[in-house]
Amino acid sequence: MSDARPIGVFDSGLGGLTVIREIQRLMPGERVLYLGDTARCPYGERSEDTITTFGLQDAKFLMDLDIKLLIVACNTVSSVALQNLQQQIKEIPVIGVVLPGARAAVLRTAERKIGVIGTAATIRTNSYATAIHKIDKDIKVYGKPCPLFVPLVEEGLLDSDITRLVAQHYLYDMIDLGVDCLILGCTHYPLLMEVIQGTVGNRMQLLDSALWTAKEAQDILTALDALSPDTNGGISKSSFMVTDLTTHFEVLAEAFLGQQIPAIEKISLEELVK
Ligand code: DGL
Repeated sequence: MSDARPIGVFDSGLGGLTVIREIQRLMPGERVLYLGDTARCPYGERSEDTITTFGLQDAKFLMDLDIKLLIVACNTVSSVALQNLQQQIKEIPVIGVVLPGARAAVLRTAERKIGVIGTAATIRTNSYATAIHKIDKDIKVYGKPCPLFVPLVEEGLLDSDITRLVAQHYLYDMIDLGVDCLILGCTHYPLLMEVIQGTVGNRMQLLDSALWTAKEAQDILTALDALSPDTNGGISKSSFMVTDLTTHFEVLAEAFLGQQIPAIEKISLEELVK
């Protein structure tokens, strides 16, 4: 049996396209419906109530389009509202990015010291530490909010002295603490991989949740016998929707997706929250 319906993926903005990139690598036949709530991005500095409301609206919008799996490709929504979403949506599996990233980090840390960087909301909820401690409660987890990274990425400052200075400001602590595995707990941070690795040195492994989330999606669809009947061409049949076409939109989208973005549709916030 197979299931030709698309996978729904949403993020507060364009960062969740990193998850699509990995889905395409692992399951090139899968069609995806992507929603990026660029009009209301960033979510990461907002209150938990607002993040939950936005997350539920994003999820409902995609649910109405008949998807077979929902991926919350936003660390902030995954940290704050995943359980709430899973309780409300019973028809299909709903997964976030936190658990796959946490599992991968546990397998990788030799020193049993994991660092997590993310938005203020992600770090405040302790979501990664909770997930890691469910697997191994003795691992030390050090969280650090890095709120300036998202605007730096949005400005396209991926390889600049300002970004390097900010990275030093945030990350030198992780070296002092003896962290050997650092989770990039925000969809934007993989784009700063080189700067971050240059700052913390090669002995610290960087972990991007996107790949592990795509792997979890593949495992779930395989177990449910719900992979697409197609083995190729998923991306060309996918739909990309955003709530605002922002200034650096195309450049950013391409950087996150790793290829030119296929046709994009702007939907209004009224359509999203109806
Ligand atoms: N998508 C968010 C995350 O992964 C980053 C951008 C935002 O703050 O909305 O946490």
